[in-house]
Amino acid sequence: MNYENPQLRLPDGAAVEGQLAWRSPSNIAIIKYWGKYGVQLPRNPSISFTLEAAYSDFELRYVSKKEPSAAVSLSFDFEEKDKIEAFRVKMVKFLETQLAVFPFLTQLDLHISSKNSFPHSAGIASSASSMSALALCLCSLEAALFGTLEEGAPAFLAKASYLARLASGSACRSLYPTMAVWGETPLVAEASNLYAIGVENAIHPVFKTYHDAILIASRAEKSVSSRMGHGLMENNAYAAPRYEQANVRMAAVLNALKTGDVHQFGQIAEDEAMTLHALMMTSSPWFTLLKPNTLQMIEILRGWREKTNLPAYFTLDAGPNLHLLYPAEIEAEVRTLITESLQPLCADGQVIFDKVGLGPQRL
Ligand code: PMV
Repeated sequence: MNYENPQLRLPDGAAVEGQLAWRSPSNIAIIKYWGKYGVQLPRNPSISFTLEAAYSDFELRYVSKKEPSAAVSLSFDFEEKDKIEAFRVKMVKFLETQLAVFPFLTQLDLHISSKNSFPHSAGIASSASSMSALALCLCSLEAALFGTLEEGAPAFLAKASYLARLASGSACRSLYPTMAVWGETPLVAEASNLYAIGVENAIHPVFKTYHDAILIASRAEKSVSSRMGHGLMENNAYAAPRYEQANVRMAAVLNALKTGDVHQFGQIAEDEAMTLHALMMTSSPWFTLLKPNTLQMIEILRGWREKTNLPAYFTLDAGPNLHLLYPAEIEAEVRTLITESLQPLCADGQVIFDKVGLGPQRL
């Protein structure tokens, strides 16, 4: 796949101006991507739910540069004022790596303003939602200036997913409704390491009703970044069997997703969450992102499930917050469990009630 296109330049002296905006959601992996090679290429296939309530809005304004220059000109506005400059520099660096794909970027003054739907202090990573929103804005900009992409068409989403992957790995899965697969697997014919694809049509309707209650165990910044975590997989003694296991679990989860087996699905989700954190603990140097209250909540959930046999299961991201996954039909029972037993263990009682969503939205 090569998206390089030297033709995508505005004629000299052309004056263009406009604005466009996208809302893009976060995603939560069921089979985890942990370990990469090359430029953000996954060592194993992963599958995720696309979320709804946790999203980023990106508005991109563009105007032709007054004075030509070879630099990327980007100003940025964001509610977390102390993070603006670091985020702006990260985006400029990313855009500089994409100048062969979007040569016109150096012909424009760009301004992005961004906001997240979730509180800054929630300890939720915004890179999936924000980098997928950025990728969508870039593809829409190409569509607006050159007509070479059709917004929302499969080729548009594949290109946006490819760019989102380069900007921030698992962000590439945020582009599709309900669920997305990223990484080659013989189980999904079109699956690729280069971009994610939507698999909404291969899943039982019950999974479209799924909720994800994010129980905030801690709002502290992560002590080890995902980038470092992925890097430590290179020398992890369990890396090779892990990548094999991910493929085996992928087959099992696709089966559960097809048949609507919510218990098999939940069991695999929990196995994957624990494996992810076990890989962190078996890295050298080891690290753990779990907190005592994460484990307490897991114990409570497990006890409740043994009593009720209701299909609420957890997963974890690279962090201490518990994602409680359950179908809409048991919402009332799970709400009671949360308010009575789990919320008191959360940082300031914080819970974000999210659910499976329809994917990005052009604003
Ligand atoms: O996309 P990254 O580099 O932040 O890595 C994501 C890793 C996990 O969130 C732990 C798993 C996943 O597949 O999303």
